[in-house]
Amino acid sequence: MHQVTAPFAPALALPVLDEALARRLSERLAVVEELLAGHCRARTAYVSQAASHLMAAGGKRFRPLLVLLAAETGPHPERDEVLTAACVVELTHVASLYHDDVMDEADLRRGADTANARWDNNTAILTGDFLFGRSSELTADLGPEAVRIQARTFTRLVEGQILETVAPEPGEDALAHYLEVVAGKTGSLIATSARYGAMFAGAPAAVVEALTRYGEIVGSAFQLSDDILDIASDSVESGKTPGTDLREGVPTLPVLMAQASTDPEDARLLELLAADLTDDELHAEALGLLRKHPAMDEARAYVVARAEEAKALLGALEPGPVRTALEAFADIVATRSA
Ligand code: IPE
Ligand code: IPE
Ligand code: MG
Ligand code: MG
Repeated sequence: MHQVTAPFAPALALPVLDEALARRLSERLAVVEELLAGHCRARTAYVSQAASHLMAAGGKRFRPLLVLLAAETGPHPERDEVLTAACVVELTHVASLYHDDVMDEADLRRGADTANARWDNNTAILTGDFLFGRSSELTADLGPEAVRIQARTFTRLVEGQILETVAPEPGEDALAHYLEVVAGKTGSLIATSARYGAMFAGAPAAVVEALTRYGEIVGSAFQLSDDILDIASDSVESGKTPGTDLREGVPTLPVLMAQASTDPEDARLLELLAADLTDDELHAEALGLLRKHPAMDEARAYVVARAEEAKALLGALEPGPVRTALEAFADIVATRSA
């Protein structure tokens, strides 16, 4: 039996003060949602079910929202290409989540079982590939320039994911390595979301350029927040298992900042951070110590500073509700709790 999952209805993950703008964004996001549900359908029930699994489980839809919001800077935000581009970025994102959960051996995503937990690694990897394929089909409808951008985005994303699995080169700074990973795996697609929106709505070249740079910084800040939340939040808030990065031995911003400490009181934490944290007891102890360490606030302050940098780039836009909403978008990314 072909199982059709009802489209998930996302609330706007952004306080938009201007009512008309909020209504337009919500309406278009609902259309994108319907389209996405259709794009996850395959010829066979098994593939449809696997491909719809994470899409139907929820998610914030940050990337499509950014496409729609960035499109408001151009004269034609209502164009079909804008909606298609919103689907392209979410399909690419969701595909990367299927693969990421295999890499991270994660079992919880969007509050649901991951595909690798529910089925197996092969299904998860190939379903990710299926969704990448779908995303590419749609990108082809947007023309060669969009295909070039998407291809470049995808290679950056994948290179970031690969680099995360290897240690910095000898002599390479660990923080610089981490920031390169973050910009690649997450900054790239969020930059493209902003760029596509502005581009397909016909915004002037200078605005497209400013929004691309804004998206890159906001996207990196988004990943830094995610890494902080991996330590700070519980699974009810995040829909994921906390401490996954620690367990996988991926050093993220708070860890790198804590490791810079010379305070003798941090000796136990530093010892744990250098150890294998796949042991449940050691993992819980490290997570507990890290949660109350000043490095958490230091990392949060770093993210807020990145968001301020991104907001400064919005000077290239006309003042008004769209610019205000893009500023709020950057603030939310820096201070989000889920
Ligand atoms: C999770 O992305 C992976 C990262 C790049 C941090 P999101 O936090 O956007 O996940 P969903 O789409 O809301 O589930
Ligand atoms: C995911 O990074 C990045 C991509 C999917 C490209 P993480 O591994 O940090 O994200 P979560 O925490 O699993 O969502
Ligand atoms: Mg992960
Ligand atoms: Mg990962």
